[in-house]
Amino acid sequence: MEMNIALLPGDGIGPEVIAQAVKVVNAVAKKFGHTIHFEEAPVGAAAIDLTGDPYPDTTHEVCLRADAVLFGAIGDPKYDNDPKAKVRPEQGLLAMRKKLGLFANVRPTFTFPSLVHKSPLKLDRIEGVDLVFFRELTGGIYFGEPRGRNEQGTKAFDTNVYSKEEITRLARMGFEAAQKRRKLLTCVDKANVLATSRLWRETVQELAPEYPDVKVEYEFVDAVAMRLIQWPKAYDVLITENLFGDILTDEASVISGSMGLMPSASLGTENKLFEPIHGSYPQAAGKDIANPLGTILSAAMMFEYAFDLSDEAKAISDVVNKSLEEGIVTEDIAEGGKAYKTSEVGDWLAANI
Ligand code: IPM
Ligand code: MN
Repeated sequence: MEMNIALLPGDGIGPEVIAQAVKVVNAVAKKFGHTIHFEEAPVGAAAIDLTGDPYPDTTHEVCLRADAVLFGAIGDPKYDNDPKAKVRPEQGLLAMRKKLGLFANVRPTFTFPSLVHKSPLKLDRIEGVDLVFFRELTGGIYFGEPRGRNEQGTKAFDTNVYSKEEITRLARMGFEAAQKRRKLLTCVDKANVLATSRLWRETVQELAPEYPDVKVEYEFVDAVAMRLIQWPKAYDVLITENLFGDILTDEASVISGSMGLMPSASLGTENKLFEPIHGSYPQAAGKDIANPLGTILSAAMMFEYAFDLSDEAKAISDVVNKSLEEGIVTEDIAEGGKAYKTSEVGDWLAANI
C-alpha cells in the first residue's frame, strides 16, 4: 500500500518522539512491503515562532492531503504563565481539531504485564484492565460561544453547548466499538445538574435500541472519577463530552503506570490524527530521555484505524512489549536498570520489528 503521512512534531519532546515513530513506521513498511511518504509541517509554539500562527494554513493543507496525521505534542512554558499572551500554542491544537473535524478522541487504557507493578494502584484492581474512552473533541465548553470577559474584565464565562447531532455521531462510534469488545457502554455525564448532560443521556437512550447487544450504563462524572481508580475493570467503552473526557483520560492513564505509554487516535470528517496523550514535557526537550512509546503505539493505532492493517499494528505492539520485557526502556520506567536514550529505544524497536 502507498501511504501519505503528515508529520506534525510540534513542541518540547514532540520532535524526538516523532523521530522514533518514523523509524518504527519505516521498519514496518519495509517488512510488510508498503511505501510511505512523510510530509512534515510545523504546529504549536514552533509554528508561532515561524509564522505567528500555531496552526498555519500551510500546515492544514499538508494535513488535508495526507492519509493520516502523526502528531507529537504542543505547549511551551513561555506561554503558560502569561495569561495575556495573544496567541497560544494550544489554540493551534484546538483549531486543528476543529478544521480537521476530529470529533472523536479514542483513548485506550490497558496495562502491560511487565509494568503493572509501577502503577500506584493495587495489582488486583488493575491487572487486565482494558477500557477505552471516546471523548467528544470538537464541541462542548472548549468551543461554545459566548466566551470571554465582561467589559470591566471582572467576570469570565465559557459556554457548554452540544447539539443532538454532535452527541449522536460520537455515541454511535462508542456503541460500535462496544459491539466489537465486551459490549458494555458507559455514558458519563452530569445529568443531575447540566442541561447538556441531559441531552447526552436522552440521545444515548434513544440510540440504545439500535444496539440491543450492548448494555448501556449511565453514570455521573464524579462517580466515574471515583470508580475509575477503585475498580477500573468495571468499564469497557466510555463515552463523554470534551471536558469530562479531558480530565478522566488523564486519570485513566495513571492506571497503566506511565502516561508516556498511552496512545490516542482522533477520528473525524476530514482526516484521522494519532498522538500520544502525554504533553510536550519541556523539561526533557532535547535531552534524548523522553519515552517514545506513546507515540510509537499511536503509530500502531494509525495502521489499525487509518489503514485497516491490524498485522502491522500488532507488529508494533508486540515489539513494544518485547522491549519492555527486555528492559530496553527510557529512564522514566527503567527502575534502577539501565536507562536507554529515546533514540536508542527507537533504534532497537525498528531493528526488532
Ligand atoms: C489534551 C490536552 C489538550 C486538551 C490541551 C493541550 C488543550 O490536555 O489533548 O488532552 O485539553 O484537549
Ligand atoms: Mn488533556
